[in-house]
Amino acid sequence: MGRILILAILTISCIVSCNTPKIIENNKNRVMIHTPIKYDGVESLLKLMTLDEKIGQMNQYSGFWNATGPSPKDGDAAIKYKNLRSGLVGSMLNVRGVKEIKEIQKIAVEETRLGIPLLFGFDVIHGYKTIAPIPIAESASWDMEAIKLSSKIAAKEAAASGLNWTFAPMVDISRDARWGRVMEGAGEDPYLGSKVAVARVKGFQGDDLSDPLTIAACAKHFAGYGFAEAGREYNTTVISGDILHNIVLPPFKACVDAGVATFMNGFNQLNGIPVTGHKQLQRKILKGQWGFEGVMVSDWGSIGEMKVHGFAANEKEAGLKAIIAGSDMDMESYVYEKHLKTLVKEGQVDIELINDAARRILNLKHELGLFKDPYKYCNEERESNVIGSDEILLAIRDMARKSVVLLKNENAGLPIKANKTVAVIGPLVSEKNSPLGSWRIAAKDHTAISVEEGLSQYTDIDWTFLQGVQLTTESTNFVLETKINEVDKTGIQQAVDKAKEVDQVIMVLGEHGYQSGEARSRTKLDLPGLQQELLEAVHAVNPNIVLIIMSGRPLDLSWADENIPTIVQAWQLGTESGNALADIIMGEYNPSGKLPMSFPRSVGQMPLYYNHQSTGRPTQDANPDLVFWSHYIDEKNTALYPFGHGESYTNFEYSNLKVTNTGTGFTATIDLTNTGDVAGEEVTQLYIRDVSASLARPVKELKGFEKNMLKPSESKTITFVLTDKELGFFDNEGNYHVEDGKFDIMVGGSSEKVMNVSVERKTKMLE
Ligand code: BGC
Repeated sequence: MGRILILAILTISCIVSCNTPKIIENNKNRVMIHTPIKYDGVESLLKLMTLDEKIGQMNQYSGFWNATGPSPKDGDAAIKYKNLRSGLVGSMLNVRGVKEIKEIQKIAVEETRLGIPLLFGFDVIHGYKTIAPIPIAESASWDMEAIKLSSKIAAKEAAASGLNWTFAPMVDISRDARWGRVMEGAGEDPYLGSKVAVARVKGFQGDDLSDPLTIAACAKHFAGYGFAEAGREYNTTVISGDILHNIVLPPFKACVDAGVATFMNGFNQLNGIPVTGHKQLQRKILKGQWGFEGVMVSDWGSIGEMKVHGFAANEKEAGLKAIIAGSDMDMESYVYEKHLKTLVKEGQVDIELINDAARRILNLKHELGLFKDPYKYCNEERESNVIGSDEILLAIRDMARKSVVLLKNENAGLPIKANKTVAVIGPLVSEKNSPLGSWRIAAKDHTAISVEEGLSQYTDIDWTFLQGVQLTTESTNFVLETKINEVDKTGIQQAVDKAKEVDQVIMVLGEHGYQSGEARSRTKLDLPGLQQELLEAVHAVNPNIVLIIMSGRPLDLSWADENIPTIVQAWQLGTESGNALADIIMGEYNPSGKLPMSFPRSVGQMPLYYNHQSTGRPTQDANPDLVFWSHYIDEKNTALYPFGHGESYTNFEYSNLKVTNTGTGFTATIDLTNTGDVAGEEVTQLYIRDVSASLARPVKELKGFEKNMLKPSESKTITFVLTDKELGFFDNEGNYHVEDGKFDIMVGGSSEKVMNVSVERKTKMLE
């Protein structure tokens, strides 16, 4: 009976889609339907679907059993398994590997009534098996081609492993280093953040989503998550229209323009409305004004959590608010599967909302080519050939070198000269796990090249490697709190004794990779545990120190800045960490990174960002004893290392900034010269200030940058063009304005080291 019905359905869909469906008996004697549906086929398929099946497409489960083992017989897993076989699931996450994915896809394709294949999503955030630098580190490269390549590699490995969807890039702008997820973003600036977002989307998706080595990307978390109050994870956000439209939304809009396939909303409230239930954001702005036609997935359980926020009386109401607001897929709340049907039957939810969501999901499956071949990502041979190839490792090592920022290098402490005795001290010296960072679930633990391994390859130096102190007391992982050693000082004395004997000390200190990332907010931005004590003890006997900082966020390096001549910001650089750092330490690579986020002098400065507004009293009075200006009585206002800062083994000089008025905009040119002895790359940055706008603008806004490699003594003239796109701003309601009047045009090597020219935009007579 069922078979006759299926045959009838297939005949109808065949007429509509003009493709020949294949009906195959599989070995369990079930009917396998392989329905090749074209874009117009999605419409015909929708017509064949029951309400339950449409809602099923909107349901996403996390992997709940080992699909290559026996099927679940009882409990929640058995219910989910039954739903999967009944066509009531549209997507799964956290299932990985060709074998597993193929088994589950088979159930969807061969056992359900319509044989609709599943989407398989995963957090491929900074690499899949081969781990790339954490996203904030990659952003420090300001090298969009390299970032694109890194995402392309991540997509390649993930796709070869059966996946077709990543929950990346996270494009949340953040100004607060206490927030642990700054490691996953591109920092504090919307212009740089937008460029990085586009590079990542294009890297993951390529030009053709149906290519078996690309995957769908996901712009997240829409929107405002990075503004969590006090940097505390999942916390409320209160964001003005100005900040929302000028700072928070631009990277998301850039993703839409780059063709991103999916979006994810988030856990946070925005001005009192949980973003998962935020109709204005999702329906009006994203799907309305921006014309986004892809899928909006909720964050993990975020539909159900709207009840806890106090925004819905129960889960049913949460589901109602989520679907009305524009959330197409429910990740792990089980709210849609439980309540959507009733809500439609009761007339509370218009069936067209369900059709729209299901259509978006089916279209994505079509674009990925899953209707043509549901197993196209499931090729075991490809899986073993692609992952961790030499080519991938080389590219990831290069990405890692480009991500490093040389914060200071007094007395030319780096690169290390040959024939020295060097003690390399610190809990992260021999670490093979922490440098993998936070989002590396598919990677094998302890597979990063450590600094010790990287440096040991240089045999003309007499190295000694010592831990000094332990950073953690227990083994660490993605879900549990990281336990920091605050007590055991064994090892400090040995480190001090060794430091006394050697010409040079390198210290590798910082945070563990699991101290940043989701749910890893901090109230302190110091070196965790006993590391400061170790640093000071070593410094007391040998101040000739090169300090390498590994961290997932900007730390307060004030003491180090005052006392240590050379400091390197090394983030968590992934699988090739030790090799990349050895390249830098030994001078095989000249550092070229620039900070994508301000480094503070004190945690009390948070939130700290270069593109702030002016106050009415920004500068100290001529009489320095007078207090009435905007400042702290115990700390400077400025960053210790500002946004855009980063040094090199060579020196760059800027001269000859000229700005010409093009009528509606400006062209700025500046000469850059490498005045040092070695070749190096410099990121030239252009900032503007609209000095008399109808809505006060920030003191500086990045509006252009260019990275150039120059040989010693080489010069280059760099040109920036400023049009309405760069000169305007959004008002509190989201309307774009470009106003006449005075502008400062600033160009230089960091947000604080700039040359400035004042110009006037005058398209009409000023009244
Ligand atoms: C995170 C998302 C992530 C999702 C799935 C959530 O906790 O906020 O960014 O994609 O889990 O793992």
